[in-house]
Amino acid sequence: MNVLITGANNGFGFVTARELTRRGWQVLMVCRSRERGEAARARIQSEIGVQPELYIGDFLLQSEVRRVAAEVRARHDRLDVLINNAGFAYPVREVTSEGFERTFALNYLAYFTLTRELLGLLKNAGNARIINTTSNAHRWPGMTLENWQGELVYPKKRFPPLPLMYGWTNVMRILFTYELAEQYGASGITANCFCPGFVPVERSTSSAFVNKLGLLLSKIIPGTRTPEQAAETILYLAADAEAAALNGVYFQSGVKMRSSEQTYDVDLRKALWRKTEALLIV
Ligand SMILES: NC(=O)c1ccc[n+]([C@@H]2O[C@H](COP(=O)([O-])OP(=O)(O)OC[C@H]3O[C@@H](n4cnc5c(N)ncnc54)[C@H](OP(=O)(O)O)[C@@H]3O)[C@@H](O)[C@H]2O)c1
Repeated sequence: MNVLITGANNGFGFVTARELTRRGWQVLMVCRSRERGEAARARIQSEIGVQPELYIGDFLLQSEVRRVAAEVRARHDRLDVLINNAGFAYPVREVTSEGFERTFALNYLAYFTLTRELLGLLKNAGNARIINTTSNAHRWPGMTLENWQGELVYPKKRFPPLPLMYGWTNVMRILFTYELAEQYGASGITANCFCPGFVPVERSTSSAFVNKLGLLLSKIIPGTRTPEQAAETILYLAADAEAAALNGVYFQSGVKMRSSEQTYDVDLRKALWRKTEALLIV
């Protein structure tokens, strides 16, 4: 079995890469920084004695997502599990050199393009699973397709330090998951998504203060989760025989539950897909 995971050098992404390597899977780690990626890979090699593959790409850029996908296709003819996980919450609105708002580009557009670029490999696996990391922040209000990149009104400071834009990209991640589930479920590719719960990590926001505060609070607030606990859901969705039957479901902190009402809006889901496709036609 093989699995590709983005954001594999840190937090529960790293734990997932390590634990699937331990189970004998061929793991393809996708990381932004060569230095951090190599360090993570070396940790897995020293703990388990097996070296995962490493791919480097800045997934803010569609060109990088496509390049990494092409590198993967050059080395593999099938993919059993795809885990879209890399993400970030940018506090202010800036666009990438390709013209896309950054949180939107990384958290949603990269998922869309990587998945589409690797669909052929997933189909070749016969039965394959797509797992998309998302967040309970998808329950924050205000996501509309007219303002999907915050281009009309950029939501500031409503939920400091994370702008509403972060929540909106998580609505899109879930709508995308449910649309994948419908489009590809019958052909043997399932798609599910999960929120890991609050997992304090060193660099989850661009504010060092907030990150330090998060790590501090994690020691005293009940309900915060460790990367190991968060990884349990991905490991279940990726590898458990029982989870093969799941398609188009959402997990929150390890529990299967309904996502927000907005994410079950079929017209919105289909419109998002069409609008994304139109955006990506160059
Ligand atoms: N932590 C939580 O409480 C929580 C809650 C709900 C959802 N999530 C979601 O969980 C996922 C993992 O995030 P995390 O918060 O747990 O932080 P994390 O452990 O630091 O993971 C984020 C990963 O994404 C990578 N990444 C960031 N920007 C990238 C870029 N431009 N190109 C490629 N990779 C990039 C990071 O690489 P670098 O190490 O190079 O920055 C890192 O490997 C995210 O999608 C996030 O939305 C997290």
